[in-house]
Amino acid sequence: MAKLTTKNLTKHFGGLVAVQNVSFSISSGEILGIIGPNGAGKTTFINLISGIYMPSSGTIEFEGVDISLMPACERAKIGIARTYQLIHPMEDLNLIENIMVGFLFAGNKSMKEARRLATELCESMGLRDLDREVSQLTMLEVKKMEIAHAMANTPKLLFLDEIMAGLNSDETKEMIALVKRLAKERDLAVGVVEHVMGVIRELTDRVIVLESGEIIAEGPYETVSKDKRVIEAYLGGTA
Ligand SMILES: Nc1ncnc2c1ncn2[C@@H]1O[C@H](COP(=O)(O)OP(=O)(O)O)[C@@H](O)[C@H]1O
Ligand SMILES: [Mg+2]
Repeated sequence: MAKLTTKNLTKHFGGLVAVQNVSFSISSGEILGIIGPNGAGKTTFINLISGIYMPSSGTIEFEGVDISLMPACERAKIGIARTYQLIHPMEDLNLIENIMVGFLFAGNKSMKEARRLATELCESMGLRDLDREVSQLTMLEVKKMEIAHAMANTPKLLFLDEIMAGLNSDETKEMIALVKRLAKERDLAVGVVEHVMGVIRELTDRVIVLESGEIIAEGPYETVSKDKRVIEAYLGGTA
């Protein structure tokens, strides 16, 4: 059964239509790629699903419940998590504290319990030396920290907004393996916004292509990457 389904989801900013009639669904354990040129509406789409923006029209259903107008904090509680395109670690806190904050926000836990859970999660994600300041972390570690922060809520659905940006090719490979493992081990539905087509090919089960807020193609990467409209809109220009 689909974990999340949108029907004719639309978002206007004044006269601009950022997301237009987007109907899609994602299932548990599935990794869905969301691609499209800059300004196509990818981040807005994630903002609509996580509740940062309310839709102008259309609906969002999560586990069969209409959550179209549910506030963001409620959506986080029922299992919808995301990372941000512009990462925002808390620089005054060290690595483990950044992730403890995720656990403390997620529910009634003591500091001790939050530390234990955060340590366990970090270890499972290959993060070590947990008392380091954020400024001492590699880009890969910062990105993992962002994902760990999101995972603290034990989400069922996780959106990653350009999580690979700034990583070198070895780091990217490691991140691909990590995201695949999280999806599999936790039966997590993952939506991935990503510009690098090699990453989309390696990582995703299925792809939707947005252009000017609309879905112009959908299917496995191998199929959509051969679609004439997609090549014209996107691949021809940048890949
Ligand atoms: N808060 C906002 N106010 C006004 N326009 C916005 C806002 N957020 C996004 N947009 C516009 O919506 C369109 C889609 O943006 P965005 O979702 O960020 O695209 P993408 O992530 O695919 O690059 C762009 O034209 C952008 O300028
Ligand atoms: Mg974006």
